[in-house]
Amino acid sequence: MIAKLTIVFLTATVLFGQKSELKNVKVLPFKKKRELVNYMKIVSKELGVKCSFCHIPNDYSSDKKANKTVAREMILMTQNANSVLNNLNFKQVSCWTCHRGNRIPDRRPQEKS
Ligand code: HEC
Ligand code: HEC
Repeated sequence: MIAKLTIVFLTATVLFGQKSELKNVKVLPFKKKRELVNYMKIVSKELGVKCSFCHIPNDYSSDKKANKTVAREMILMTQNANSVLNNLNFKQVSCWTCHRGNRIPDRRPQEKS
């Protein structure tokens, strides 16, 4: 009986834990941390940065770093662009489309200072 109750309790903890795994995810569609972190790894490569460019290492849900709040707007911009492209039956864009592995996208030669 105690063993059964323990299993029920552990299962509930795991399920509940999964639900509240992500604390401050406002625009991305992911429900699972693993899927979100995979996306984050891709984004980091597309911008040529480390996680700490946007995150405080011990608190990934914090919005204290300006790069993170800018990145959230960039995610929204990319999602909006993709809904337009989707209607046109075109391929999707990503951070890479503009950033190409750079923190700041390359500018046309005449615009560079
Ligand atoms: C360019 C900025 C940027 C980089 C680099 C980045 N992230 Fe994120 N991360 C974000 C943004 C923005 C969100 C919130 C997304 C939203 O609101 O939907 C987020 C959310 C998260 C969350 C969810 C935290 C929570 O529970 O609220 C985790 C975990 C996370 N990132 C891990 C990582 C890891 C690990 C890396 C490195 C591999 C990384 N991130 C790199 C911008 C970044
Ligand atoms: C349509 C082109 C475009 C796309 C797509 C795009 N960005 Fe950007 N991003 C820019 C431009 C332009 C800037 C401003 C650079 C400047 O200051 O000249 C910028 C700046 C940023 C900055 C601030 C960098 C800094 O050092 O101030 C972050 C962070 C960022 N983008 C994250 C992202 C992420 C994450 C994605 C993918 C979800 C993304 N961007 C997709 C064009 C784009």
